[in-house]
Amino acid sequence: MSADNSDVLSFIEANLGRFRAEVYDFLRIPSISAKTEHADDTRHAAEWLADRLADAGMVSEVVETEGHPIVLAEWRKAGPDAPTVLIYGHYDVQPPEPLELWTSPPFEPTERDGRIYARGSADDKGQLYMHVKALEAHLATVGSLPINVILLAEGEEEVGSPNLIPFVEANVERLACDVVLISDTGMYAPGLPSVGFSLRGLAYFEIHVHGAKSDLHSGEYGGAVMNPGNALARIIASLHGPDGRVAIEGFYDDVVEWDDETRRQIAELPHDDDRYREELGVPDLVGEAGFGTLERLWIRPCCDVNGILCGYTGEGAKTVLPNHAMAKVSFRLVPDQSDRKIRPLLEAHLERVTPPGVTVEVKELHGGRPWKASIGGSAFEAAGSALREAFGTTPVPMGGGGSIPIVVEFEEKLDATALLVGFSLPGCNLHAPDEWLPVDNFETGIGALALLYERLAG
Ligand code: BES
Ligand code: MN
Ligand code: MN
Repeated sequence: MSADNSDVLSFIEANLGRFRAEVYDFLRIPSISAKTEHADDTRHAAEWLADRLADAGMVSEVVETEGHPIVLAEWRKAGPDAPTVLIYGHYDVQPPEPLELWTSPPFEPTERDGRIYARGSADDKGQLYMHVKALEAHLATVGSLPINVILLAEGEEEVGSPNLIPFVEANVERLACDVVLISDTGMYAPGLPSVGFSLRGLAYFEIHVHGAKSDLHSGEYGGAVMNPGNALARIIASLHGPDGRVAIEGFYDDVVEWDDETRRQIAELPHDDDRYREELGVPDLVGEAGFGTLERLWIRPCCDVNGILCGYTGEGAKTVLPNHAMAKVSFRLVPDQSDRKIRPLLEAHLERVTPPGVTVEVKELHGGRPWKASIGGSAFEAAGSALREAFGTTPVPMGGGGSIPIVVEFEEKLDATALLVGFSLPGCNLHAPDEWLPVDNFETGIGALALLYERLAG
């Protein structure tokens, strides 16, 4: 380790208490992008972040979009021979409901059992802030960064990044970079750091079933009029076959078979179905026949109902034949499936399976393309080396079941390599009550990122 390097790491160690206090301030801001009533809070989070980036020594600005703003910070004094790294993250969070299931309130960060509990601690404000502090550590000690850095934080990731793709397209030159570095995924297990090799894409719809022109008495009309609730149940049941595969014709046409090397690496990861099942509290694991759990999560597509709305769900019994039913249905996609191709396939399927007596309507919510890394190369090796040094363990390759829609766009539009180095853990309750981030990962991760910037310099 160079002398500079140990200064950077000592600085981090000496300032951890302050870093923690600062990230708590960030987590206190309820930057819920989905809710208009939190638009001001979301903007406040952007401004707060831009100020902290400026404090760290970056040139930062808040860039307006048609939605929530983008925070852009730059430091470009490493010279033309040094690589340029674009650090991407998001400062928006998912709605915290149901509130009554949180042990401590979502926007009052609290430490318990070595975990920072708060909405956004893991996804993604906590992880994004680790970069801010790793950058500060270099600038405060060495006075410079080993790489040219652009940090881009958006406030709309959790609502499908509607304004980011146009922003990237319009700013290709300003955002030009060699590597896009993202900390918005997790480690495989405590103490076992990981580098991401895949993300699933997403195609998300509402399926509306319409019946009579108003609700009806379920005794007066039941049995003679198709109930949209019954019809929706039939539709949902038709989405999967008995083999656990999605039963929509053409759905698997573009799915690529994964290479043997990656499947071998997946098989080598320490995974135990029984333990996994117990941790989740489910009696059985299910999924596409012929694939293991990790493969089903990372390299195979799936289809899930995310919510259903229909009829009377209040106290007691109301006898009613509802005239409308709706399900929110998402498809997680894998290479080379395209979110744009799913809608016509779904519509053709609905045409085939919708029972008579109702009409069906599809509304598109959002989409995102799947991503598959080209494993190997210098960025991957830099991440391996930095994580090994910081955590004392060789990192494992890890797939991602979730989606970060902008990753493919960054790679294609900026001709860069995406590098996913994340620090949450399975069970961190992303999008759920009691979201947490391990204090250890927050602290060790800042050091790992500081080292990674050096390794990326070559
Ligand atoms: N950070 C997650 C994505 C993620 C989670 C990737 C876990 C890998 C493992 C991201 O913030 C997210 O939640 N994305 C959404 C997509 C978006 C379009 C709403 C998702 O995956 O549902
Ligand atoms: Mn995220
Ligand atoms: Mn998320």
